[in-house]
Amino acid sequence: MPRQPITQRKIAEHVQRLGELYPPITLDSVDRTIKNPTVVAASYGHVIDYLARVELEVDRNVLELLCLLPDVDDTNKTFYADVWQPQEIQHGLILDRLQQDLGRTAAEPHLEVSFKIKILGALANLSPIQDVAKLLYFLTGASTERQAVLAYNQINGGMVELGESAIAETIITPIKQQEPGHFAFYQMSATAMIQDGVLKPWQLYLARVLREKSYNLVGTNAMDRYKADMGRVVADLGLDADLEGYAREIGRLEARLLWANRNGMDFPPYILKALRESVDLYTERTLREAA
Ligand SMILES: [Fe+2]
Ligand SMILES: [Fe+2]
Repeated sequence: MPRQPITQRKIAEHVQRLGELYPPITLDSVDRTIKNPTVVAASYGHVIDYLARVELEVDRNVLELLCLLPDVDDTNKTFYADVWQPQEIQHGLILDRLQQDLGRTAAEPHLEVSFKIKILGALANLSPIQDVAKLLYFLTGASTERQAVLAYNQINGGMVELGESAIAETIITPIKQQEPGHFAFYQMSATAMIQDGVLKPWQLYLARVLREKSYNLVGTNAMDRYKADMGRVVADLGLDADLEGYAREIGRLEARLLWANRNGMDFPPYILKALRESVDLYTERTLREAA
């Protein structure tokens, strides 16, 4: 299927439009009515805890970006400073207040940049490595934003079903409207790099190796306890009934961009592996706690 080329100008316009269309959601705009907090907490408490923490970790994501892309360009700077960070931090604050309204403890975001990122960041002072880091950064952004879109869709449906219209209409719907624009930014940015042939074959090879070795589901921070938490999110949202379908949803873009040499790959195998690992860690933890 022929695709329109993605120009840097198109990306810059997209960023500007997102800033104009979606001002950060204010805490005051939220209707804090909860009809049945016990039921909401039982069905979605853990998922809301998880998402609140991940959204609040945006400040670490900005530090990672500055580490990985020391020569960050204006479009990327405008995106993270004027659009993305201000929107995500409000998602975090609003969800954090919701979880406390549900009687749960406040989120504890993990704000320390990992050693792995610092190493890659040090190497990114070499411009060919920075280009590899940039593609990985865009692919990570696209994959995590896609996971956010899917999670908020599921939660919204659930809240409507429970009759929790204030949560659905004044929290989840406004948040979920902002996530697809983030996904589109990363998708366009990664696609433009591949389409323009920015990376030489050895750089693409390196990107594949690093991606395969370091792929993480949203918010797991390469740590087992967060992976187990994510396993429970997957289970609570009912996504474990079709892990392959979910892997396809979140892995389609990078299958196309990074693994075009592997004909017929729907999603990279490491994505399904990460999902299975998370679900297994959650199951093991549940069994351990029950013993
Ligand atoms: Fe968000
Ligand atoms: Fe987002």
